[in-house]
Amino acid sequence: AYRADDDYDYLFKVVLIGDSGVGKSNLLSRFTRNEFSLESKSTIGVEFATRSIRVDDKVVKAQIWDTAGQERYRAITSAYYRGAPRPYRCQHCDHVVGNKGDLRHLRAVSTEDAQAFAERENTFFMETSALESMNVDNAFTEVLSQIY
Ligand code: GTP
Ligand code: MG
Repeated sequence: AYRADDDYDYLFKVVLIGDSGVGKSNLLSRFTRNEFSLESKSTIGVEFATRSIRVDDKVVKAQIWDTAGQERYRAITSAYYRGAPRPYRCQHCDHVVGNKGDLRHLRAVSTEDAQAFAERENTFFMETSALESMNVDNAFTEVLSQIY
């Protein structure tokens, strides 16, 4: 059956949070536009982009909010997840992503430690590289299928 380009079955909001410089904006640009920038500017406040993916026979549209990691924007960015109305907060679900997997010699956290942390917190964990396009689609698809 014909479906308009912007037609979807579910709309999910995903919020990217994490320290400044870990690569949130590049994960988003890689996932939504297949773009990566070595000299991206630090995010000010909050930005967003969308992409629709297919999960089973449904079209899931992700509205992805990219927050600033810098401390001075914390008051603004925290409003994007803490301020969500209760019904949304209840459905909230954390996922841990370890980015920059390409920088093997500069690894800050071992895969085992990250995996153990995720298991303790009962969350999903995946290592990605926005630069190499490694696991970026997988990580977002995993998040979206789990919400769905
Ligand atoms: P804030 O907006 O300040 O919170 O930072 P951010 O988390 O959005 O980081 P951003 O995406 O701007 O990336 C910071 C720097 O890391 C940039 O120079 C990117 O090119 C680089 N970077 C991002 N992802 C990767 C990656 O997977 N591998 C490597 N080697 N560099 C990356
Ligand atoms: Mg950013």
